Amino acid sequence: MPFCDGLRVVKSSIHGYGVVTTRPFAKGELVCYGDGVFYPESADFDDTYALVFDGEDTGLGDTYFWDLVDQTRWFNHSCAPNAEVRGKWDPNEQRVNAHWIAVRDIAIGEEITYDYAFVGEVAEPCACGAPSCRGLIVDPDPAELAKVPAHLQRLLRRAA
Ligand SMILES: C[S@@+](CC[C@H](N)C(=O)[O-])C[C@H]1O[C@@H](n2cnc3c(N)ncnc32)[C@H](O)[C@@H]1O
Ligand SMILES: [Zn+2]
Repeated sequence: MPFCDGLRVVKSSIHGYGVVTTRPFAKGELVCYGDGVFYPESADFDDTYALVFDGEDTGLGDTYFWDLVDQTRWFNHSCAPNAEVRGKWDPNEQRVNAHWIAVRDIAIGEEITYDYAFVGEVAEPCACGAPSCRGLIVDPDPAELAKVPAHLQRLLRRAA
């Protein structure tokens, strides 16, 4: 798997490490493929850097994780992201095809972000800084917002 061209890992103003561009990306352009290692939910590993695939996504029944191992590992979340992830289980290759696409033009030096849309139970405080920030890294679906733990509910900023 080639190193992602046009991306650099840096200290992020959002959280920890993040990834900025060293060249512009046009809306609709491929940003990067995400190489990874596949784990079942029962495995003992750190899922902080993984994409989640439920049984319906893969047809494998259980939940699986694609633990990212390249620059994509450091992509941060934003509630107003400039990229989106597309991930699909490839049964022939027995691996995940995950890639990120620019959802708008992205200038040199911008941090690449996508919407993690965490389920309510694992919501985290969000520091993306977008005017439309939801206050939490969470799927905005009302059913997921209802599952946000009580101690985090006060951080939620719902759309007017
Ligand atoms: C895949 S890591 C991203 C890389 C991370 N910045 C690091 O240095 O480890 C995902 C974790 O980064 C943090 N993170 C990502 N986006 C964030 C955001 N918008 N606000 C606060 N924390 C964020 C959360 O703790 C999240 O679980
Ligand atoms: Zn946010």
